[in-house]
Amino acid sequence: MSIIIKPKTPPAASPASTTVVKPIKPVNYSRSTLVEVPPEASQKREIKGNLKSPFIFSLCQPGAEKVHKEEIKNIHPEYHSAYQRPGFVTFKGTEMMGPDVRFESTLSRTFGISLKTVKFDPAANASTELNDEIQQKAQELIEELTTILKSNEATSPAEKSAPAIVHVWDCALTEVRDSSSHVANLHSPLYDALVHFNDRSLFSFQTHATDGALVFDLIVQSENEVWIGAHLQSRFHYQTPPEYLTLPLPEKAPSRAYFKLLESLDLARIRMPFGTTAIEIGSSPGGASLALLEKGVNVIGIDPAEMDRVVLRFPEFSHVRRGVLNIEGHDLDVFDAPPEWILLDMNVAPNTALNSIDHILSVIRRPERTQGLILTLKLNDWSYVSEIRFYLNRIYDYGFTDIVAKQLTTNRQEFCVVARR
Ligand SMILES: C[S@@+](CC[C@H](N)C(=O)[O-])C[C@H]1O[C@@H](n2cnc3c(N)ncnc32)[C@H](O)[C@@H]1O
Repeated sequence: MSIIIKPKTPPAASPASTTVVKPIKPVNYSRSTLVEVPPEASQKREIKGNLKSPFIFSLCQPGAEKVHKEEIKNIHPEYHSAYQRPGFVTFKGTEMMGPDVRFESTLSRTFGISLKTVKFDPAANASTELNDEIQQKAQELIEELTTILKSNEATSPAEKSAPAIVHVWDCALTEVRDSSSHVANLHSPLYDALVHFNDRSLFSFQTHATDGALVFDLIVQSENEVWIGAHLQSRFHYQTPPEYLTLPLPEKAPSRAYFKLLESLDLARIRMPFGTTAIEIGSSPGGASLALLEKGVNVIGIDPAEMDRVVLRFPEFSHVRRGVLNIEGHDLDVFDAPPEWILLDMNVAPNTALNSIDHILSVIRRPERTQGLILTLKLNDWSYVSEIRFYLNRIYDYGFTDIVAKQLTTNRQEFCVVARR
């Protein structure tokens, strides 16, 4: 199943863009033009029952709410922003929507319809031990979820025999966690308590959701507020909420790009078999290269800067210590297997990064063997967000038509594009 990404309308000049290398078809950013829902997905879109809401919730990078709202204004003018908290925005549509709601956003980590806000009474818990308080909250949430589940006529008998999937989100998902954040403190004990009180035949927490599955979302807003939403699992959703931000970076990892790479593979469900060859443009100091090497991937790292010793120790790593535009075809003939993946993570503007992809695709010996691209494109200027569709159009024109673009939880002011043929 492919997500086809293709602008259909002509390109406006892009004022914030620094480098435009070739004449480009104009893009009208004010219409939703890029993602066509494949027929299989459309068949799954028919949601019966009462899981409906005029509101959409979306989790984004804390601090990016304003630019996320701008993004949605351009892509989905039919949705109007309604409410926001750090890392959390809701939008109101013009009609009732089901969990299959369309929301073509790069900045959204997850989204769905917003069903209910559960507010706990702080006074009621004033004299209660923290542990008891969390248990009470968990019980209350399980009751709310059970009511929603039981009143959902759409659940077929076959589906009812399986527990409903629930994903629990910390809405303050950010690398720089405020240690006093009640959200961060509540999320994990609440999750444990939910699992404890759950009748396993009813709900299954943090389990992998396959495309088309109905997933309930619990979004922990604060110690006294949790929102309940629902989405139909699609390629634009993580199969489980990513946990990389809560994990300590392994000591051997030269950079946080180690987790960025793992998260992009998770999001796009990519498995690189042992012996696959990948090129990484902008590979220093080597976090992403290390993550690939540990999976048995051969890596050709292109970067004028030094690589960390932990990476250089692998015989399956080859460093071409030059700027990417000075690379020639024979530099990439290192391993028996021709490169199948091209990764890029350069600290340059998106158009400059894409010029590097143009160059590599023009010198690589067997470009048709390239299965896909995994790119980190920098949003050094937030105004680049309005040009994302233009960048995706360039990538589409390389022949990679199956494209997912998302700001990962491990991304800073940048986003990830995974593009396949
Ligand atoms: C964000 S860092 C890359 C992090 C790296 N992917 C990792 O996993 O640790 C950006 C890198 O892009 C490299 N870079 C910038 N311009 C470049 C160019 N023209 N050719 C190759 N690398 C370049 C820089 O030297 C820098 O090491």
